[in-house]
Amino acid sequence: MKEILQQLEERREKARIGGGAKRIEAQHKKGKLTARERIDLLLDEGSFEEFDMFVEHRCTDFGMENSKIPGDGVVTGWGTINGRVIYVFAKDFTVFGGSLSDTHAQKIMKIQDMALQNRAPVIGLFDAGGARIQEGVAALGGYGEVFYRNVIASGVIPQISLIMGPCAGGDVYSPAMTDFIFMVKDTSYMFVTGPDVVKTVTNETVTAEELGGASIHATKSSIADGAYENDVEALLQMRRFVDFLPASNREDAPVLPSFDNSDRLEYSLDTIIPDNPNMPYDMHELITKIADEGDFFEIQETFAGNIITGFIRLEGRTVGVVANQPMVLAGVLDSDASRKGARFVRFCDCFNIPLVTLVDVPGFLPGTAQEYGGLIKHGAKLLFAYAEATVPKVTVITRKAYGGAYDVMSSKHIRGDMNYAWPTAEIAVMGAKGAVEIIFRAELGDDEKIAARTAEYESRFATPFVAAERGYIDEVIMPHATRKRICRALNMLRNKQAELPWKKHANIPL
Ligand code: HXC
Repeated sequence: MKEILQQLEERREKARIGGGAKRIEAQHKKGKLTARERIDLLLDEGSFEEFDMFVEHRCTDFGMENSKIPGDGVVTGWGTINGRVIYVFAKDFTVFGGSLSDTHAQKIMKIQDMALQNRAPVIGLFDAGGARIQEGVAALGGYGEVFYRNVIASGVIPQISLIMGPCAGGDVYSPAMTDFIFMVKDTSYMFVTGPDVVKTVTNETVTAEELGGASIHATKSSIADGAYENDVEALLQMRRFVDFLPASNREDAPVLPSFDNSDRLEYSLDTIIPDNPNMPYDMHELITKIADEGDFFEIQETFAGNIITGFIRLEGRTVGVVANQPMVLAGVLDSDASRKGARFVRFCDCFNIPLVTLVDVPGFLPGTAQEYGGLIKHGAKLLFAYAEATVPKVTVITRKAYGGAYDVMSSKHIRGDMNYAWPTAEIAVMGAKGAVEIIFRAELGDDEKIAARTAEYESRFATPFVAAERGYIDEVIMPHATRKRICRALNMLRNKQAELPWKKHANIPL
């Protein structure tokens, strides 16, 4: 008996060293942890239970029958993060570059199926070269099955991808279908085809970083929702992130104990809006002053900074925040900001996370670059996402809410539940200068008349009261009471029931 136990321990030991000491050393030299080290950091200590540790590939082409490594390049199982069940798979780059074989795919599929059946999030740690080339179509079939499961689980359980090494082919397409993608700076890359293939096909010479590093995907392409300095920081941030999310679309996110008073008044907000309407202020300041303990988990922080998206807690409960940022392009809505906001709104709606929208928007960005790039359709995405969202929606207009952007940013008309405005709000078709130049064109050149017209327009429209007189704004509130008012509104809306007419699914302008 003792010998049998010993044999098991030996087999486990062999599986645990994956591709061997040399490859592990190479992994460490690149500043990367191994798959098992990553899982240990991600999950609560001692909570990981591994599945399928002895699975091996069945390929017999290209001499593969002589090269088998238990586990076959992916470590899978479940564990807990702060006590909550999480399913996890981590690609092991030391084994065939983490590439996906038929059996490797089956291990991932098992995790996906269990997570969906048992309604718990899946986190994938990616460090892999895509389909195992020696397996051909069997690997492609495996990816197809993984992709299908990504899609079926979408909107039911949260799916998170953390990119921690060079990833190609299917190892970027599967993450692309998950809810969030985070990357590690300088050691992770995502591309459909790597620099060598790019050189052959298009004759472009690019480095892996230029083609698909975190510096590209977190700022230019918007593929990544965030980027971290190293593996350790990334994994610890995933632990923090998961705490904001529910286990599934049928559960609420965990309510964490808060030591912050929901009645807290922030008098500094009474002076945050500059006297000059063209001067910016930092919307982050408002967000952190509203949030429990000032804690804000930002999504896509370095992309389309003119809109801010992320999670806070109010009275310990998760809330999604969407806010225009006057510090970047005056907070204007362009294609990128609209897409970013829309995707975030849809995530929150999928998972019953209430939305707080902070509005200071001068309108949509004019110009050929935007129009040629499809601004109409991208702007429509945000409008559509807000209108379709049935979660509680609380809106606060701090300053500008001009034109179509007023309608889009969770206005009453697209079923904002509580719409507040600060006394500094300006709700109109456009700013005074532009408006006067159009409706009093004949008087242009007469500076005195134009100044009088501008003053008249400002006193009539550069306020929240025309909208409040019509009930489009439920109440004009004191800036210092914003946290208190939002908390009270969300409490009042906690049992909101809103249903859309039956449909197979809506047809959001993609
Ligand atoms: C089998 C692979 C592999 C793969 C890497 N390896 N990718 N083995 N199939 N796809 C092996 C290497 O042979 C090597 O084995 C080890 O992994 C490490 O790879 P290196 O190339 O030495 O590492 P590095 O220089 O860091 O480059 C990593 C890489 C590169 C950028 C990922 O390996 C690469 O470009 N691989 C191919 C990527 C690719 O084209 N994949 C197919 C995509 S198609 P040893 O034994 O030396 O350690 C696809 C289909 C689905 O995925 C698409 C759906 C839309």
